[in-house]
Amino acid sequence: MFDPVYIRKDFPSIHQFYEGKNLVYFDSAASALKPQAMVDRLSQYYAFEASNVHRGAHFLSDRATGYYEDARQTVADFIGAGEDGDIIFTSGTTDSINLVAHSFSQLLNSGDEILISKMEHHSNIVPWHLVAERLDLKIQYIDLHEDGRLNWESFIDKLSSKTKLVALTMVSNVTGVINPVKEVIQKAHEVGAKVLLDGAQAVSSFEVNVQKIDCDFLAFSGHKIYGPNGIGVLYGKSELLNKMPPYRGGGSMIKEVTEEGSTFLSAPFRFEAGTPNVGGAIGLAAAVKYFSSYDRHEIHQHKKFLLSTLENKLSDMPEIKLFTHGEQDRIGVCSFEVKGVHHSDISTLLDQEGYAVRSGHHCAQLLMKHFGSSGTLRASFDIYNTVDEIDGFVVALKKAIGFFK
Ligand SMILES: Cc1ncc(COP(=O)(O)O)c(C=O)c1O
Repeated sequence: MFDPVYIRKDFPSIHQFYEGKNLVYFDSAASALKPQAMVDRLSQYYAFEASNVHRGAHFLSDRATGYYEDARQTVADFIGAGEDGDIIFTSGTTDSINLVAHSFSQLLNSGDEILISKMEHHSNIVPWHLVAERLDLKIQYIDLHEDGRLNWESFIDKLSSKTKLVALTMVSNVTGVINPVKEVIQKAHEVGAKVLLDGAQAVSSFEVNVQKIDCDFLAFSGHKIYGPNGIGVLYGKSELLNKMPPYRGGGSMIKEVTEEGSTFLSAPFRFEAGTPNVGGAIGLAAAVKYFSSYDRHEIHQHKKFLLSTLENKLSDMPEIKLFTHGEQDRIGVCSFEVKGVHHSDISTLLDQEGYAVRSGHHCAQLLMKHFGSSGTLRASFDIYNTVDEIDGFVVALKKAIGFFK
């Protein structure tokens, strides 16, 4: 049964004290805490199983290869990848998007368009800036409504036969808004465009099944779903991936190397040059198994409940400006500001009370510009957070505000 109080036992770092105060972690949208099961699996790998993969002729290497490929299968099952898709291990969402930007763009022609939204994390903006300049591609931006939700009319307006890729986040890391990606994909495919989804904030909140939504690519990071740092995933449709040139060259990705040039293995291996993060992949698989031991619907409901609990309390405080309201199409991420007080001053005082929140532009400067804000305070929730923590947070927030007013 889903019970956050029971779940908290699985996360050692939540039981720490900071300056005599209980640590309350409301920054899971940046990085989730780690369950003991994942930590144990990682240390088991490094203590007894560490070896290189795909190239050894000995027991340790064979076993590590088996675990590494099992981890790929676990991730494939987790996102419903099926036989027509591949799982590429990368270092994270940023790396996955850079891979698509640098490799898929090689298939495009001068003047072709990439369509992104103004709510994207910089990792889904800057790679496109880099390749657009080099390959003479045009970036179009989907506008947002005042509260940060995607403007469907703007999407339809900007989508055209020139659009070759729509690169969209499934969930905003600032507002927690969930985008209607299935409808976006349907429309994009009608004009022949491919779709890359940034699933960084989505996969740890609700079910993401790549075959059901029919996306062409999906990127996400291990550390946001209780996994280790430095490991991430790019899912892609195999047919498409095998048309794309490798993004990086090196060992383990070639068929043959001659003085004249190299030929390449099929996906996923053509995109995994060099020694991969074997331990990271195994740790990620353990994290995914841990996450999957709970009902995803219940996890989603829990986070939304925490969100609405906080927002209801904040709505009663005249000093607070909430940027987005309502839990209907959102995950447990809440951005707000204290009117007339800099966000980092408030987060410093909250930190002194043991409350970890994020403050700043959250790598989403286009969205900050849209909001006319230099930065927000962001509280984000996960399975180990409770209503009691929110009650305490509001008390600490009022105390911090009192310091400035
Ligand atoms: C929506 C979104 N996309 C991409 C990223 C980048 O993830 P990473 O730094 O793990 O590559 C983040 C991280 O906060 C995010 O929230």
